[in-house]
Amino acid sequence: MKITDIQINHMTRPVGFDLSDLQIDFATEGQWNSETQKSLKIWTDSPGQPAFQQTADYTDNVFRPEIRLQPRTRYFVEIGVSNTDESAKGTSWFETGKMNEPYLGSWLGNADKNIENTLFRKKFILSAGVKNARLYATGLGVYEARLNGQKIGTEYLAPGLTAYDQWVQVQTYDVTNLLQGGQNELLFSVGDGWYKGNFLYSGGRENIYGDQQRILAELHLELVDGTEEVIVTDSSWETAAGPVTKSGIYYGEDFDGTFVIDNWQEAEILNAPKDVLTDRYSLPLTIQDELPVKEVLLTPKGEKILDFGQNHAGTLSFYNHLPKGHEVIFSFGEILQDGNFYRDNLRCARAQWHVKSDGEEKWIKPAFTYFGFRYVKVEGLEVVNPEDFKAPVIYSQMERTGSFKSDNTKVNRLFQNIMWGQRSNFFDVPTDCPQRDERLGWTGDAEIFSDTAAYNMSTYQFFKKYSRDMLLEQQTHEGMLTMYAPSMKDDDGGNAIWGDAATIIPWNMYLHYGDSAILKQNYQAMKAWVDWIGRHTKKAGMWINDFQLGDWLAMDGQDKATPAGATDNDYLASIYYLNSARIVAKSASILGYEADKQKYDALAAVIKKNIQDEFVTKAGRIASDTQTARVMALQFDVVDKEQEPQVISDLVKRIHQDRDHITTGFAGLAFLNRTLSRFGEHELAVTIFLNEDKPSWLYAVNLGATTIWERWNSVLADGHMNPAGMNSLNHYSFGSIASWMYEYLLGFRDYTPGMQKIKLAPLFTAKLQHLQGSLRTSYGLLKVEYQLETNSDHLIEIELSVPFGMQVTVDLPRSENVVIYVNSMSYSEKIVLTGGEYHISYVPTKMYIETYSMASTPIEILNNSKLKEQFIALLPEVYKSFDHQGNVYHMMGNKPLTEVLARQKVSKDRLEKFKRILETIRK
Ligand code: BGC
Repeated sequence: MKITDIQINHMTRPVGFDLSDLQIDFATEGQWNSETQKSLKIWTDSPGQPAFQQTADYTDNVFRPEIRLQPRTRYFVEIGVSNTDESAKGTSWFETGKMNEPYLGSWLGNADKNIENTLFRKKFILSAGVKNARLYATGLGVYEARLNGQKIGTEYLAPGLTAYDQWVQVQTYDVTNLLQGGQNELLFSVGDGWYKGNFLYSGGRENIYGDQQRILAELHLELVDGTEEVIVTDSSWETAAGPVTKSGIYYGEDFDGTFVIDNWQEAEILNAPKDVLTDRYSLPLTIQDELPVKEVLLTPKGEKILDFGQNHAGTLSFYNHLPKGHEVIFSFGEILQDGNFYRDNLRCARAQWHVKSDGEEKWIKPAFTYFGFRYVKVEGLEVVNPEDFKAPVIYSQMERTGSFKSDNTKVNRLFQNIMWGQRSNFFDVPTDCPQRDERLGWTGDAEIFSDTAAYNMSTYQFFKKYSRDMLLEQQTHEGMLTMYAPSMKDDDGGNAIWGDAATIIPWNMYLHYGDSAILKQNYQAMKAWVDWIGRHTKKAGMWINDFQLGDWLAMDGQDKATPAGATDNDYLASIYYLNSARIVAKSASILGYEADKQKYDALAAVIKKNIQDEFVTKAGRIASDTQTARVMALQFDVVDKEQEPQVISDLVKRIHQDRDHITTGFAGLAFLNRTLSRFGEHELAVTIFLNEDKPSWLYAVNLGATTIWERWNSVLADGHMNPAGMNSLNHYSFGSIASWMYEYLLGFRDYTPGMQKIKLAPLFTAKLQHLQGSLRTSYGLLKVEYQLETNSDHLIEIELSVPFGMQVTVDLPRSENVVIYVNSMSYSEKIVLTGGEYHISYVPTKMYIETYSMASTPIEILNNSKLKEQFIALLPEVYKSFDHQGNVYHMMGNKPLTEVLARQKVSKDRLEKFKRILETIRK
């Protein structure tokens, strides 16, 4: 019996974060009875009473202590769980930053604003050894700090990306072990970063937020002899130009090891505002993994290439043993074309690292940039030794919380690709992609993926920071949300789906983590977004006649010049308006704003009625004949119960006409499979999911994708890049299919906010007979494994492990009037399980192992390559009637084979033979 994890605002031992609205969650291991109590004690290291204590009956694993925190203070946390039989204790801590305490240091700059890499240093002597030391620091653009030559902390590109004119985050570092009695040197090295360097697409802009690199710092010292001292940035600091001769997020970095650092001069005190300084929200960008070189390649063009085997975001480490002055150039790319290095899809991003060796043998890497890549072209090295390179993978420090594995290796690769999409793009802000001249916090992409992201990793704090980025943009745009946040001073915005990130992201985080602080933080902005639509739209209670991006990157669009799909934009925009109004109403209710709840509920009712009047017939026909239009109607409750069967049947018909393939873009794809599975068409969802030709997820896997592509057809079947100007191989949005994998394949569904109660309601398919996966919730690890037996008894076996405090309602498919065994006990009614390990088994009412038959349709049959061959060989004349240049678009394509063949003259013999073949091949 023990406490295994304590999370402070969903982080482990946070230091220097904004910790308003404190929430402490804890996980336990073992069995406890219902009489259990929980207790929380918080104290500082200064003597006296605990700063906070509370004991309560155990009803959940959460404390929301109302405690007034003090700045620059470490708080120790003790959690106890006990009942009459036993007890357990767990401890953790957190530390506050400067909070509202005034900053003593000044902003420092160098008189020469054009310096590409500004160094700032302070030499000081300490009279004794150090007992405790904290550095509170920030810099603009991006900085690295060193104490006595050693890098402080483990993070990169601090202080992260924010609208710097509104807030600049301050980092807190424990530097106790880097200091010594006697002489010390504190050094900052600053590059342009997002603040000042070239950024934004189409050539970009310089100096977006400022034109001079700068820092501000306070070093608080407690010496062993009892002295206390504070060293702050002031005119006693010196500044000079450093050896990075140019850097930029897209540009990369040029390092000149022969550069002589001289001309140290007094730092300039800048009269820049300090009220922008804020305790950090951003999770640190740290190295989470290090990829070795998989292969060194020599291309047909004679290029030397490092292949790291995995597309990702991060940087390159190089073991430099070159003589002083020797130059080497590294270029970064995602894919090879005809075996050669390729990077046209990076557009204006130079994405190179130039190194002029300083002659010192050591590992080096760039400091002020990052790259999205799998391949690195090396120029300037005679011999390329793979041991001299590593690729540190960098992303915001989040713990992995979700896992998925099946008996289909391609599906497993897809899941890995989805994870890599998140690793590559959760880069302080949720970026669209990590490689080309974009890497912006695109709202729409983030919104579509946010639910999947929260299953995959612990994203609460990451999105809390991004939600603040969004709300600050809304504050300066009358409630409108810009296309990306931070907006980089680009005022464009106000689009449906993208702008609805304002409501959807905070709401999704609330659902996953059960912490309403994010709703509280963003509530005014969520409301402001809905109100902005209300003021802006051309027809009250709907959103019509506006420019929209629509169902972005769908395959059903008519206008090939734009990537928008065929679904009516007014319809889509109005549905998102409806959804946002509902989210505001629900949030108002949670936060206790009753009048608002009524107001936005009423608005939602009006919008729903208007959408129905304009886009839905009484019988449930939808104006746009697309997959997305039907999915949206069902997912967002636009239609009434009695209209649903018509919508779902039209959706299925549409999909069959689309050869059982997905044709949606952003909007539809997050919900297509969930809608199908929810409305009784799980097998069709599985078919779409397992398709291997375009458009499908596994098409990319078959072409060797290691991340999620931007487009369904980013790479053509012959391995060539789609020539479209906008084409990245590392956009995460299409990875939102993983939510369906967690919810319908693993069955983790219908949870209460924070997941204390969850349903285990998988839907099975014979195409995936072994599945395993888990979710690390704040209660601990919820884990499941399924085995569908292929032998004659068709037994289904489930291993389930539920952490204490969680309640799982097991709802198994095809189990009506069937006995279900749970750890050898038989159940025939509702099964509700709490903490423990369970072996569950049952024989479903209808078996899952299905073969093809004469009831199968030609489209189904011809989608199976093995059967297609047999079909052509045995029934050539029938096949011909279906083959339209390789595509099976035929009125009869969806009818059972018996019906189809009744119209053709096929001999009995051949028919029998084909029937037998069909029955041996599993679906
Ligand atoms: C981005 C997308 C984004 C879109 C919207 C693209 O350039 O990469 O992911 O959502 O623009 O216009």
